[in-house]
Amino acid sequence: MADDKIKKFNLGILTISDTGSQGGRQDTSGDAISEIMSHEGFVEVVREIVPDERDVISAKLKEWCDGGALDLVLTTGGTGLGPRDVTPEATREVLEFEVPGIAEAMRVQTLKNTPFAMLSRSTAGVRSGCLIVNLPGSEKAVRETLAVAVEAIPHGLQMLKGWRMH
Ligand code: MTE
Repeated sequence: MADDKIKKFNLGILTISDTGSQGGRQDTSGDAISEIMSHEGFVEVVREIVPDERDVISAKLKEWCDGGALDLVLTTGGTGLGPRDVTPEATREVLEFEVPGIAEAMRVQTLKNTPFAMLSRSTAGVRSGCLIVNLPGSEKAVRETLAVAVEAIPHGLQMLKGWRMH
């Protein structure tokens, strides 16, 4: 929708990866988010990589959302079933309310690409007027799930900001 792009939204990208945070690999998933969202008209304000540590992730999300500069935070990684996968717990801990439909839609709509879509425990919700959405960790998964979420995110942000009443 053209009018969705008139006011630009500010974006933070948080990659959650033990290896990535040690400089062990190129952050291709963060790169994909950056590329897709700039194409969608979002302004990338901040981007970081943190390890799969619940307290570190929660603290970063709080800092970014409460700072007031961001409208949207997209995380990538740490949503699976592994012993170090704590992104959904760290996210839920800081949310004021969940927006479950975003992650539900990403899972349902991308199941046609891979049955593994059901293995992501990603969540989404709002803190301090900022929408946080967890994406899975691989670049492929980011591209598939973000294509779904981006269909509704600008409309959701407009409602969140009170620019659009329903
Ligand atoms: N969703 C989509 N659309 N495409 C994918 O390739 N990968 C899955 C899943 N979600 C995938 C996906 C896999 S293999 C895992 S283990 C979970 O996301 C969790 O990934 P994460 O722990 O890297 O976040």
